[in-house]
Formats: sequence, C-alpha cells, structure tokens
Amino acid sequence: MKIQRLLAAALIALAATPATSAGKAVVRLQLDSIDSAVTIPAEIYGQFAEHLGTCIYGGLWVGPDSDIPNTDGYRNDVLEALRELKVPVMRWPGGCFADEYHWTDGIGPRESRPKMVNSNWGGTVEDNSFGTHEFFNLCELLGTEPYLSGNVGSGTVAELAKWVEYITAVDGPMAAERKKNGREKPWKLKYLGVGNESWGCGGNFTPEDYAGEYRRYQTYCRDFDGNKLYKIASGASDYDYNWTDVLMKKARNHMKGLSLHYYTVKGWSGSKGAATVFDNDDYYWTLGKCLEIEDVINRHDSIMTAYDPDKRVALLVDEWGTWWDEEPGTVAGHLYQQNTLRDAMVAALSLNVFNRHTDRVRMANIAQIANVLQSMVLTDGDRMVLTPTYYVFKMYRPHQDATFVPLDVETDVRDVRDGRKVPVVAATASTRDRVLNITLTNTDIDRKARVTIPLGRSLKGASIEAEILTADRIDDYNDFGKPEKVTLRPFRGVKAGKDALTLEMPAKSIISISIK
Ligand code: AHR
Repeated sequence: MKIQRLLAAALIALAATPATSAGKAVVRLQLDSIDSAVTIPAEIYGQFAEHLGTCIYGGLWVGPDSDIPNTDGYRNDVLEALRELKVPVMRWPGGCFADEYHWTDGIGPRESRPKMVNSNWGGTVEDNSFGTHEFFNLCELLGTEPYLSGNVGSGTVAELAKWVEYITAVDGPMAAERKKNGREKPWKLKYLGVGNESWGCGGNFTPEDYAGEYRRYQTYCRDFDGNKLYKIASGASDYDYNWTDVLMKKARNHMKGLSLHYYTVKGWSGSKGAATVFDNDDYYWTLGKCLEIEDVINRHDSIMTAYDPDKRVALLVDEWGTWWDEEPGTVAGHLYQQNTLRDAMVAALSLNVFNRHTDRVRMANIAQIANVLQSMVLTDGDRMVLTPTYYVFKMYRPHQDATFVPLDVETDVRDVRDGRKVPVVAATASTRDRVLNITLTNTDIDRKARVTIPLGRSLKGASIEAEILTADRIDDYNDFGKPEKVTLRPFRGVKAGKDALTLEMPAKSIISISIK
C-alpha cells in the first residue's frame, strides 16, 4: 500500500514537474543488516569473447607479427584497458560458435592449423590462429578465470572429454600433446559449459533431449589432478520457464550452474533500432526492457527453488546486454554496434539487479568484450575506443567480491511503453576493507536528482571520493580519433552533512562514491 501510494504520488509529480527542475530521492542503506557472508561474486562482472566478427581477430588478437603493438599477439591497448577492469571471468569460444568449434583445429603450429568457415557469423573464414593456448594464456595475462563453452551440437562426448584432459591433466596422452605444443604445466579450468543455447543454434534440442545429452556429456568431463570442474548446463532464453523446469527436474544433481540469456532487444525479427539514433521514448523503453530481467530472474529462481531450496545450483546469466542493428557499412553478421550513454545506463541498471540476486545469480557475462554487441572496447585497425559501458564496469569494480549492503531507494518511478516502470534513481552499495562504495544512477534525461543518503553517523574526518559518467546528450558515444564524449570525471558535488551525504545528480548520470 505504502509503495503504491508512493508510486502514485511520484507519477503525478513526474507529470506535473517542469522538465528541468530537480527530482528527489533518498537512498537508505541498511547498514545494520549487513551480512558479511553475502558478498557480490566478482564473476557478476564477467565477460564473453566469441569468435564473432572482430571480437577475437582484430579485437583481442592481432598475432605476434602484426604492426599493431602487441604482446605475444594480444593487442597492447586492449590488454591495458582490460587489466583496468580486473576481468574476473571470460567465456569462450561462443556463443553459437562453440557448438561448431573443433578444438583440435586450434592447437599446434599456427601456420599449419586448418582454416574454418564461421557459418554462424557471416561465413567469415578464420585461420584458427587463436585457439586453446592463446585463450588460456590470455586469461593468465589478465588474471582471469577461463570459462570454456563445449561443443555439444556438432561435437562428440569424446571430443569434449579430451579437451578437458588436454587442458588440465598433468600426464597422459593429451597432456603429452599439450606439452609438445609448448605448455608443460596444465592450466586450471573451473567453469565448463556443456553446450550453448541448446534449444536453438546449439542443436535445436527439446529440453528433455538436452537434459539427457547434458547428463551423458558431463559424465565424461573428469576432474584431473586436483582440477575441479564447475559444470554448467545450457539454460533458457528469456521467458522460457519450461526449459528451466525440465533441466532442474532431470539433471540438477549433475550441474553446479544453469545458464540464462537475456538481451535488451526489441525483437528477433525486423529492425532492432539503431544504437545511436533513438528518441526519449525509445530510451525509456530500453531501460524498462533491461530492468525486466529482475522479474525473469525471480521466476527462473522460483522454479529452481522448487527443486533446489538450498540454492546449490546457480543461475548464470552468461549472455546479457543491448542488441541493436549492425552499424551501416559493417559486415553483415558481425554484430558490430556503437555504444552510447543509453548503453551505460543499461549496464548500470542490470548490474544493480545482479548484485541484489546473488543468492542465486553467481555469474553474469556481458555480450561481448570487444567489437560485438554491448562491448567494452571498439577497435578499428590500430585504433581503440573505450565505450560508455566500459566506464560503468570500471566504476562498479569496487563491488567485486565486496560485502553487499542492502538498500531501499525512495524515488520517482516512470511509466514507460509496454507497461513497464523505470525508477529515476537506482543504486548498489557494498563495503570492503572499511570502504563504503555506492554507485548511483539518475535515469532521467532532463531532470537533476537531489539524493540524500542517511548514514546515521558523523562523516567528520571521512575521505570521500566520487566520479561521474555523463555526457551532453543521451545518444553521445566515443568515436575513433575524436575526444571522448562519454568519459569518467571527478565529481565534487557530494556533501557530507552531520549524518548524511547529499548530492545533486545531473540528469542522465552515473556517479560512484567511495567513503573511507
Ligand atoms: O552473443 C551473440 C549470440 O547471441 C551468441 O552467439 C548466442 O549464444 C546468442 O544467441
């Protein structure tokens, strides 16, 4: 009731207030109910790198002979950018690509590896120069946990079983092969996905048939020499609750995780809309659609809970993000899209949702890391830009492995197209090593938001630092060879009162605050 009254008042307020006046919000941190056992897994900030377009070839990998500055074939600019993000986990090699990938084509001397047609993504011919060694070495360079997606659709049980052995065994025939290819020590492999989108590009299985295949495949993926696999079944897309139900009913005892894919997309046929050309109504619709993931998570979670009340099996959102039309003039099927402040808003709001559902959601992998969909970086030859989404990941970095601070936000709520609702102010808070980190989003395109954060204690002597991500326009983006329009800047507008913080958030802004 209270909430309804609050919402009703808020909606009237939104309609009646002049566009430029400030809205108000109160962010109440429940500092007394912090449970130190509830950490935000770093894996919520995971990435996804598929052989798709120029994500791998050109984006991450240029090869050691390239004129583009690189370290053992990985481009230096991208390496440096990704190091800043502390990428906790990276999923590879797909996506749909995974179910057509034969790993043995990607080992051994690069010059003698067979070429392949990437039939999922534009029919591009790839030379397999980026394979198992290149992926695992990249993860080592970045200090990232590898997440391997295995081929179920067009592979065999033996092929996947041998891949695991090749990567993780100390001795034996597969280890000997690996050593011959230059890697003495096994790598560590924790996350193993058994197929991808097995209801579609991964084999068009029924959930019943896939559950059977999953059980068979995972049986032969062994734990070698102290390595411990965390096995993940290919899960539902969006609203396919039946898939989750069947998988949990038939295979839950054989998995640690079940995936979920949710894209912020207008639909799968026709135009998805341009990444950089949209009106206010489209913008708010996009936020409403992205926030709907909370309801989708809740519903999959409640189905899982019926079988697994202790929440042993995690729900892993291993593909999420915005999906727009490909940029005009780019290769069809390469899913190359620009990235505006609108995408940054989607990133922030989605991460907030994941952060408050970590009792079930223990990993999320934005699609994708470079040059595909909602990327961190875009590259063009030897040039690179950092996207607005990149900066959100940078701002949210302190939440990785930090203790979650529950909070309530008293804010105006906007009704948007298709009956969805979008809060004006949204937030996440966490604490770690006696530092309190708060990330705040003002989704309103036109209005500032006056935010109060009661802390119930004096902030005298506390050191407060803040940064802001915003731009002149919601459709601003960063382009090659031009100064960044959407970039992180220091924010000096946080005021420490006797027992509360106050700040005026500019319209369409994201602010991170750290209090020591
Ligand atoms: O991320 C692009 C594609 O989207 C992935 O390959 C597939 O799993 C999903 O449909």
